[in-house]
Amino acid sequence: MPTIFDDLLERFQAYLGGVDSDLVADEVARIGWDMPVRSLEPRALGCLNHLDRIAELATPDATPLTRFVADHRDALRWGQTYTAADFGQGFIDNYGWLEVFGTRGHFVNEEVAGGLLILGPNIVYPDHHHIAEEIYIPLTGGTEWRMGEGSFHRRAAGEVIHHASNVSHAMRTGTEPLMALYLWRGGPLAQKSTIGSRGRS
Ligand SMILES: [Fe+2]
Repeated sequence: MPTIFDDLLERFQAYLGGVDSDLVADEVARIGWDMPVRSLEPRALGCLNHLDRIAELATPDATPLTRFVADHRDALRWGQTYTAADFGQGFIDNYGWLEVFGTRGHFVNEEVAGGLLILGPNIVYPDHHHIAEEIYIPLTGGTEWRMGEGSFHRRAAGEVIHHASNVSHAMRTGTEPLMALYLWRGGPLAQKSTIGSRGRS
């Protein structure tokens, strides 16, 4: 009988399968989806109180995933890479991620990590960068993203955002929370990001 973790992985894959992007399709095809399960203790975070609003805001194609995550939040292991010393307590109370698969997620994968990021309303996630190459797909709209030295651009739900290795990036939310799906490949998959714009720190 499938577990809720099997169901989670299936919904994650199904969402990605519907994204109209060659980059995403190539990545989905490269992922070995038959992954061993990893037994993890559930862990809750303050940001989980945004999950119901996120499920309401998500586009219809993302609702099967976002609603499922909201309904099963207490069985999942939510994580944080930063501490209050990095971006302040307000950030920590409104930030967290769920690693569905990867080196520390609910399924074991040493090549690629995939998960969901939550940011609460009116949060700035300052410039940071990491070795891993990253694909982000916001599942809710109304957030602003920037890459490199560029300015912030509003991104719609379902847009595919690609960060090459070590390119700095930042995002900020408006009056609503964000959930974004992420995929990381290459480099240490559990690495804490380096804070600051590359070369400026
Ligand atoms: Fe990133």
